[in-house]
Amino acid sequence: MTSYVSSTRTRVAIVGGGPAGLALSRLLSVAGVDSVVIDNRTHHEIETTHRAGILERDSVRLLLDAGVSDRVLRDGHEHQGIDLRFGGVSHRIDFQKLVGASCWLYPQTDVFLDLHAARIRDGGDLRYGISDAAVTDHREAPRVTYSDANGAHHEITAELVVGADGSRSICRDLVDNPQRYFREYPFAWFGILAEAPPSAPELIYTRSPHGFALISQRTPTVQRMYFQCAPTENPADWSDDRIWAELQRRLAGSDGFALKEGPIIQKSVLPFRSFVQSPMRDGNLLLAGDAAHTVPPTGAKGLNLALADVRVLADVIERALLKNDDDALDSYTTRALERVWKAQHFSYWMTTMLHRIPDTTDFDELRQLGELTTLVSSEAGSTYLAEGYTGWPHH
Ligand code: DHB
Repeated sequence: MTSYVSSTRTRVAIVGGGPAGLALSRLLSVAGVDSVVIDNRTHHEIETTHRAGILERDSVRLLLDAGVSDRVLRDGHEHQGIDLRFGGVSHRIDFQKLVGASCWLYPQTDVFLDLHAARIRDGGDLRYGISDAAVTDHREAPRVTYSDANGAHHEITAELVVGADGSRSICRDLVDNPQRYFREYPFAWFGILAEAPPSAPELIYTRSPHGFALISQRTPTVQRMYFQCAPTENPADWSDDRIWAELQRRLAGSDGFALKEGPIIQKSVLPFRSFVQSPMRDGNLLLAGDAAHTVPPTGAKGLNLALADVRVLADVIERALLKNDDDALDSYTTRALERVWKAQHFSYWMTTMLHRIPDTTDFDELRQLGELTTLVSSEAGSTYLAEGYTGWPHH
């Protein structure tokens, strides 16, 4: 028999203390529902992992409505549009004019820090740096066990368990006989952080004959950029000079745009795939965010989709636990997956419209340019992009 140095009873045990798990525990706390959050990563590991940097309008609203922080409005940057660049010329998509909405440049690591600080402020039970997490009996009497940094065993019993444990989820495998939908892409992204001033006030999504590139930002002195590469690419093979030469040739054009260079302080290759698991619930276990779905990064939907799941999940959990509404949990998968598949399509569409498919044909290249030309010259086309990018309303 394992002996436990602590045994905690709570209403919701949340496996995963990234933005999805923390946002859920915050919304539940505001509604008066106790939770315990565990994560095998340390706070430092999460804080120093670079992720995407764009928040949809309703992701910002969630942080504000939940009283997490208004730092996003003070330190983040409102972007009222993006540039689509192809044929060596940039075309602005004006979100405000098309749909009356903006998005915010605010890195995921800052979202994590704000949520963490909010939970510490309201007395949240957050346990980082644990190992050997296991969930048992999730249909009858859910129990989560784990070891702490000293190897001592702990136990949490709960009414519900939420798997917000990311793309390497352990909770996902507890769903009985799930459907799993995958799509692989024959490329990846090479991501860098560079010490340089911004080259443009907003993001530039670029399609070039040499492949995709994205010019994003972080601070007035640090910029984030990505370019399409082979999935097998090794960052160590890329000197700063080689990276800048590659980015420069993808951004080259006739409209006077100049990409500003500087020392590169971080390099990594990002995985690239689409994945959905359905259902997102089994008994008293519910999944949120990357544990249930992954999108390719083009369009920055990953974090936004996780926060949208959490908004629905907080609602169904509150109805189930506070109003004894037995049907509430049943509705979760259908409600969450509707948006998941819209975002899957949006991310797939942005990806295939802007990336170079290896061994592509002249037909496909010219068709891709035809699509981009239609998009930037049609209000209907631009409006679809603006609506999807700034995010469909949460409900
Ligand atoms: C960023 C990442 C994305 O995938 C994207 O579409 C836009 C911005 C970023 O990290 O800044």
